[in-house]
Amino acid sequence: MSANPSEPVQRIGVPREIFPGEKRVATVPDAVEKLIKLGFVVAVESGAGEAANFSDDAYRAAGAEIIEGAAALWAAADIVLKVRPPSSDEVALLREGGTLIGFVWPAQNPELMQQLADRKATVLAIDCLPRTLSRAQKMDALTSMAGVSGYRAVIEAANAFGRYFNGQITAAGKVPPAKVFIAGAGVAGLAAIGTAANLGAIVRANDTRAEVADQVKSLGGEFVKVDYEEEGSGGGGYAKVMSEGFQAAQRQMYAQQAREADIIITTALIPGKPAPKLITAEMVQSMKPGSVIVDMAAEQGGNCELTVPGEAVVRHGVTIVGYTDLASRLSKQSSTLYATNLLRLTEELCKAKNGQALVNMEDDAIRGLTVVKNGEITWPAPPLKAAPVPAPKPAAAPVEQKKSGHGHGSGAPMSGKSLAVIFAVAAVLFWFIGAYAPAAFLGHFTVFVLACFIGYMVVWNVTPALHTPLMSVTNAISSIIAIGALVQIAPPNAGINGRPDSLILWLAFAALVLTAVNMFGGFAVTRRMLAMFRK
Ligand code: NAI
Repeated sequence: MSANPSEPVQRIGVPREIFPGEKRVATVPDAVEKLIKLGFVVAVESGAGEAANFSDDAYRAAGAEIIEGAAALWAAADIVLKVRPPSSDEVALLREGGTLIGFVWPAQNPELMQQLADRKATVLAIDCLPRTLSRAQKMDALTSMAGVSGYRAVIEAANAFGRYFNGQITAAGKVPPAKVFIAGAGVAGLAAIGTAANLGAIVRANDTRAEVADQVKSLGGEFVKVDYEEEGSGGGGYAKVMSEGFQAAQRQMYAQQAREADIIITTALIPGKPAPKLITAEMVQSMKPGSVIVDMAAEQGGNCELTVPGEAVVRHGVTIVGYTDLASRLSKQSSTLYATNLLRLTEELCKAKNGQALVNMEDDAIRGLTVVKNGEITWPAPPLKAAPVPAPKPAAAPVEQKKSGHGHGSGAPMSGKSLAVIFAVAAVLFWFIGAYAPAAFLGHFTVFVLACFIGYMVVWNVTPALHTPLMSVTNAISSIIAIGALVQIAPPNAGINGRPDSLILWLAFAALVLTAVNMFGGFAVTRRMLAMFRK
């Protein structure tokens, strides 16, 4: 990519997306300001941001030129920023020797690749970014779009589902929380888990890569394991195709989840492979009427046998949503994230901040992205050199440890050692206090330490979904402590030296009544809350 000799700096052009229904735009006013700071001139086609709620005026205020019509915009641009792959008409508008940055999907679009090469173009396909490079994360548009889409999948499910997600006790009766099952806990799946859990649903998830179990848990979900021992990781954070035996065991587990779940969101995919068929027609039939399936893998053939890509259909009383434009349905948010990803990429291309982009093929991230260079097809990029490999290693180690020890706390010799050291230090400290502190202090201190320990164990082992009932029971228990405080105010042996002051007695009585309301009320509310979580 070289600078246009007639211009002192290069012009970045942002056309309106013409794919039917596409509402995103490749840059937003905030990003325009920063692109200009890098030295570029920025031109935006009139109306390009309209569907994402960015007006021409907003772009103008950020410093962009507004150009009427696609032909004029493409003709004026040295570098075109786009979301969707260009149509053949758009490729014809690209300047000869121009640069295109956006989603291209070279494996699925060989003809488009040839057309771009014929235009002597340089093309950076954002979908070809080497995602395992940690320094490339800021440019990872696949991840940002999948995150938005995972969120939107839950919103679509909520829209089609006729009930609340969270459990509620209302004057009109008790509502149990919705049960959501997520198949595939990659980027989109994890976003869906977090969103559904935040809405108050009981969330379960499965993935062939067992290493994601902790992430599922940390987002408030429960990881459901397939009862079959097989390593599911295919390297680079992606899965591999599993054995027949595993698939049979997985089908059995999914059949059970389908019977129990109100909502299923499927996101399972191995790049370059058709989506695995995880939800069969029989499973759909076994779901409760009014249930919802959102099949995020619809575009790759779908994880559900009955999905119709791009549509929401009702089969056996179950709504199956197969929308392929989930990110576009949150166009303002996804455009903003996408614009930031492209801005970070432009910063990498223009380190000198002189308005001249330089495609450095020595840089692993840029090499991976560059699928056509000055008319020569350079896709696929060679595999990454050994250098970035150390990054995934720390993540792999704990998984290995876990696998060897079949259970929860097992397989953690390291933490056992450090625990022993902590206990030894605590024992010495305790002995020191015992030897020098007054006897009464030691008694209270022992109770305090044990209380801390029990409190820690209780809170740590409660799943986040149960934190509200936990707070309520803690509230009730704290009332019991108040009774202890009352006993201190009016000691039981006060009668020996005379009756306690009657004012104190009445105050203590009032406090006792109020505390009792809090205490018994707290336990009653906790019981009702817990009842909502019982199956
Ligand atoms: P990802 O690669 O991060 O996640 C896919 C997950 O599926 C991985 O964790 C993988 O281990 C798991 N998986 C693979 N085979 C499996 C199996 N047989 N059983 C259980 N889990 C399995 O991909 P990402 O970015 O999360 O995207 C997920 C899907 O959502 C893709 O199909 C993607 O094309 C789609 N998507 C759809 C959008 C839409 O508008 N409908 C928008 C964005 C993404």
